Amino acid sequence: MNLSELIEARSLVVCCGSGGVGKTTAAAAIALEGARRGRKVLVLTIDPARRLANSLGVEELNNVERRVDPARLEAAGIDVQGELHALMLDPKATFDELIKRLAGDGARAKVILENTVYHQLTSALAGTLEYMAVEKLYELHGKGVYDLIVLDTPPTKNALDFLDAPGKLSNFLDERVIKWFIPEQDEDGTLRYKVVQKTGKLVWSVLGRVFGDASLDEIGTFFASISGMTGAFRLRAVEIEKLLASSETSFIVVTSGDPTVIDDAMYFYRKIREHRMPFGGFVVNRLSPDTGPIEHGLVAADLGTLPENLREGPEVENLLRKMEEGYTILRKASAIEGRTIERLRTSTGFQGFIARVPQFAHDIFDIPGLVLINRYLFGEGDLLAREA
Ligand SMILES: Nc1ncnc2c1ncn2[C@@H]1O[C@H](COP(=O)(O)OP(=O)(O)O)[C@@H](O)[C@H]1O
Ligand SMILES: [Mg+2]
Repeated sequence: MNLSELIEARSLVVCCGSGGVGKTTAAAAIALEGARRGRKVLVLTIDPARRLANSLGVEELNNVERRVDPARLEAAGIDVQGELHALMLDPKATFDELIKRLAGDGARAKVILENTVYHQLTSALAGTLEYMAVEKLYELHGKGVYDLIVLDTPPTKNALDFLDAPGKLSNFLDERVIKWFIPEQDEDGTLRYKVVQKTGKLVWSVLGRVFGDASLDEIGTFFASISGMTGAFRLRAVEIEKLLASSETSFIVVTSGDPTVIDDAMYFYRKIREHRMPFGGFVVNRLSPDTGPIEHGLVAADLGTLPENLREGPEVENLLRKMEEGYTILRKASAIEGRTIERLRTSTGFQGFIARVPQFAHDIFDIPGLVLINRYLFGEGDLLAREA
C-alpha cells in the first residue's frame, strides 16, 4: 500500500521518529491530504512550532479540537472535499480527563484531582506524555466522529517509551504496590502505613523528593482513592494496545537521510514489528536535492537571458565556479543519502513505500508549505525520483 491508499483505507495513522526529522510537519501534511480527498480528518499535534500551530488555528493548548478554517485552505489554492481539524495535546488536561472518566463517581475524581500528590505526580511523570497522546487518540477514536486521525508523537529518544507507555503506566499503578501506601487503621485508631513498616524511613524520604511537602495523609488519601481504579487503567491499556495493533491503524516512521538518524528509523521499524503493530512505510524528509549532472551549457543558456554586458567576464566565470561547487556538494550529499536509503531498504527487507521529501530553503509552517510537502509525499514532486 502506498501512502495515498493508506490514508484512504485506515482510520489511524501514527507518525513516529527521532526529534527534528519532521514528524509534526508530516502529520499535518498527511492530515491535510486526507481532508483534500474528502475525509473528515483530525490531526493530533504534540509540539507544533508556533507558526504552524497558528496556521492550523490551534495556538491555544486546551485539548479542544478546532476545525481549520476552510477559507484558509481555499486561499492556499486547494479544493478540500472533506474537513481538517486539529488539536494540540495538553498532557496534564488529558490526565485529568482520564481520571474523571475512570473514577466513575464525581466525588472520588474530585478527591484525586485536588490532591497535592496528584499534582506532583502528573508533573513528575513527564514520560506520560507518550501515554497521554495515545490516551487522547483512543478517546477521540472511540467517539467515531472522524474518518481519519493522524497522531503526531513526542520527541522521545526511546521508541519504546511510546509503545510501552500504556503498560508502564498500568504497572506503575499496580494494585499490589498501591496497597502499600494505603493506611490501615489500628484498634486504637492510629493509621499505619505498610510501606513504613516494611521499609522504614528510606521510602518516605524518596517519596518526599517526588511529592514535595505533601503530607503523609495526603499521600494515603491519594493512593486510597486511586486504588479502585487500577483495574480500569489496566483494561484501558489493553484496549489501547488492541486499537494500535488493529488493521485500522498504520505506523509511519519519519526520518532524515542522515545515516545515524536512519539507524534510529530502523530501530523504530523493528520495535513496531516486535510489538506486532501494523507498519505502513517510511518518509525520508529533508533530503539534499539531487541537482543532477551540471549542464554547463544549460547555465550558459540561462545566462543568455541576461543583458549582453553581464554574460561574460571574470565575474561570470567566478559565479559559475561557485555554482558548480555548490552543486557538487549537494550531489555528493544526495548520493550518500541515496546509499543510506538503499541500506534502509535492504537491512529491513521492507517492500512498501519509502517516500522522499527534499529539504526546502525555508521552514514549513503554513498551509502552502504543507501543500509543497504533499507534492512529494503523494504526487509528482519533480526534484527527486520517488520510489517506484
Ligand atoms: N522538508 C523540509 N524542508 C524544510 N524545513 C522542514 C522540512 N521538514 C520540516 N522542516 C522544518 O523543520 C523543523 C522541525 O520539523 P518538525 O515537524 O517540528 O519536526 P519533529 O516534529 O520531528 O520534531 C520545523 O521548523 C519545520 O518547519
Ligand atoms: Mg514534533
